[in-house]
Amino acid sequence: MKVRFKIWRQDSPIDKGSFKVYEVDGLNPDMSFLEALDHLNEKLVLRNEKVIAFDHDCREGICGQCGVFINGRAHGPHENTTTCQLHMRSFEEGKVIVVEPWRAKAFPVIKDLIVDRSAFDRIIEHGGYISAKTGTASEANAIPVGKDIAERVMDVAACIGCGACVATCKNSSAALFTSAKINHLNSLPQGKPEEHQRVLDMTAQMAKEDFGHCTFTGACEVECPEGISINNIAEMNARFLKAKLFR
Ligand code: FES
Repeated sequence: MKVRFKIWRQDSPIDKGSFKVYEVDGLNPDMSFLEALDHLNEKLVLRNEKVIAFDHDCREGICGQCGVFINGRAHGPHENTTTCQLHMRSFEEGKVIVVEPWRAKAFPVIKDLIVDRSAFDRIIEHGGYISAKTGTASEANAIPVGKDIAERVMDVAACIGCGACVATCKNSSAALFTSAKINHLNSLPQGKPEEHQRVLDMTAQMAKEDFGHCTFTGACEVECPEGISINNIAEMNARFLKAKLFR
């Protein structure tokens, strides 16, 4: 299989960056998209050229590291699929595949396709955890959680923090990510003691970062590889108002 990659190259955060085109042949349609980039990088090494920097870890849709725009869509052409779960058979032989990093002020490009997503980490640092004492592991696991709540929580806990929601939003809003994390922990009995402080602190940190405001366009929900619902943002807003009133 042969394709033409048009890939964003940028040496450093202060470099202007530009697209560069690479003809790549010898690809197997069953290769993953990241394996195709590995294949290209091997060729670049042999030509003594700089390899393309891209993020990845698990390569099985769990860690959220690998997100890029592919032909203008976050994580490529398929719904509920991360970049590492994408295969070359999803593309037509001989076509141009445009690959670029997330575009958002809060996610500055570090190098080529790698962006700095530490703004997400700082939101998590402001309440994306439970510090209430729950006893030993076995005691914590013995706290009953209703089936409905458990299922709802599992839906939002699926967020892998890839950043597709921010990158695809015209306002670069982090509302879907933040709401998934808040609704996950605030729905659980273990998260209740800190629920009001959590929503106030995490939304305050979100506002401090370079994210924009949510205007409910719904693009985040469409491009989220885990199918996190935009309803979570409305739920977060309700939790925020409740926390303010409680105070
Ligand atoms: S490399 Fe982990 S989600 Fe893609």
